[in-house]
Amino acid sequence: MLIAENLTVTLGRRPVLDGVSFTARPGEVTAIVGPNGSGKTTLLRALSGDLPFRGAASLNGVAIARAPVWQLAALRAVLAQSTPVGFAFTVLEVVRLGLGASAGRETDPRAALAQVGLAGYEARLFPELSGGEQARVHLARVLVQLGAPTGPDGPRWLFLDEPVAALDIGHQLQVMRLAAGFARAGGGVVAVLHDLNLTAEFATTTTLLAGGRLVAQGPTAEVLCDTRLSAAYRCPIRLNVAPEAGRWFLPQMAGALHS
Ligand SMILES: Nc1ncnc2c1ncn2[C@@H]1O[C@H](COP(=O)(O)OP(=O)(O)OP(=O)(O)O)[C@@H](O)[C@H]1O
Ligand SMILES: [Mg+2]
Repeated sequence: MLIAENLTVTLGRRPVLDGVSFTARPGEVTAIVGPNGSGKTTLLRALSGDLPFRGAASLNGVAIARAPVWQLAALRAVLAQSTPVGFAFTVLEVVRLGLGASAGRETDPRAALAQVGLAGYEARLFPELSGGEQARVHLARVLVQLGAPTGPDGPRWLFLDEPVAALDIGHQLQVMRLAAGFARAGGGVVAVLHDLNLTAEFATTTTLLAGGRLVAQGPTAEVLCDTRLSAAYRCPIRLNVAPEAGRWFLPQMAGALHS
């Protein structure tokens, strides 16, 4: 179980997260949504133990702020919003970086690459890959770090910050299914998402942030409602509204356009 109470994070002089409480259960995908700058990455980094915060947060009963890095590395793996790699590492070398922090070494780097649709990319140079390919290499690295969805210390946790932002629609589904499979096998998944359709499809529970504050947390179908989303994103959003006949629309946009 991931339990956070009253988290407050101050960066510079501003509180960018203001008294946010958050829970996530193993076996589920929990989504964090909200507009740009609402504090999603900050919340994920605080929960990862990468940012100092006020309040209380625990993962499988372990206090996140006090846990040593090795203990956190065995419990959770973090896919950051962006992870530049400054050296001409091969794809396999980047994925193997996950082994350094791994407790069990249960996931073979080549198998992880196959899981993200990059079998055969092992010897390619990382900087020469496309943006979406690089994002999936990092996901493979994170999967290698974590190993199996559960271990001797209970469920393991995937923290994913916009895991599908750089991906085409087919690979978005592949990665979300992978995350859902990890949760089904007993692990925990917390994912920051901008795509509300993927959120509706894959997240059991959703947390909506705006302006560094919690707007709502609960079952996804209850949190994602017209009035709340329209107010948080400051644009008219109507769920399940088909566009007018004769107008183009893409499935991701259905309901957000033409309202
Ligand atoms: N190091 C920092 N110093 C000062 N302010 C910061 C710092 N890092 C982030 N912020 C501010 O904190 C707020 C929340 O940032 P955060 O990265 O958590 O947003 P986000 O919800 O992840 O947005 P996005 O959807 O654009 O990724 C933003 O207004 C940002 O400008
Ligand atoms: Mg962010």
